[in-house]
Amino acid sequence: MDNVKNKTAIVTGGGSGIGYAITEDLLHKGAKKVAIIDLPLERCYNATVTLQEKFGKDRVVFFPTDITNAESYKETFKDIVNVFNGLDILINNAGICKDNNPEQTFAINVVSIETLNFLFFSLNKI
Ligand SMILES: NC(=O)c1ccc[n+]([C@@H]2O[C@H](COP(=O)([O-])OP(=O)(O)OC[C@H]3O[C@@H](n4cnc5c(N)ncnc54)[C@H](O)[C@@H]3O)[C@@H](O)[C@H]2O)c1
Repeated sequence: MDNVKNKTAIVTGGGSGIGYAITEDLLHKGAKKVAIIDLPLERCYNATVTLQEKFGKDRVVFFPTDITNAESYKETFKDIVNVFNGLDILINNAGICKDNNPEQTFAINVVSIETLNFLFFSLNKI
């Protein structure tokens, strides 16, 4: 990822795995601020503190939010845009692979992504 210097970003599922690595890469390459949207789990708080210690407390913010709850993440999205004074980058990384729960899988892997994309494109009038 290039051209992220001084940009603001959301990374869903940034509290672990690939999302954590993406968040770290954005910060390493000079992104101004990154918001992690992830579940309110201890490892996500810990991941945020680790990144804050490495890159600066004000550059990474954790917004504990379940992206299957539309009202909740719409509010979170608005809060982030307000706190960051706009938003340049949206990374829809959060996802699951659960064959035994197709409804939950669809809610996370499809519905939330479509809604977040809509909010982002509306904001940036793309
Ligand atoms: N790791 C792989 O080999 C692989 C392969 C293909 C696709 N993917 C996809 O890449 C993405 C990242 O994979 P990963 O291996 O880092 O997985 P991971 O499980 O380590 O990370 C997923 C993150 O999404 C978060 N998340 C899950 N449900 C959520 C919800 N309802 N609300 C908010 N956050 C939620 C989790 O808490 C977690 O932090 C996922 O979408 C995954 O499906 C991964």
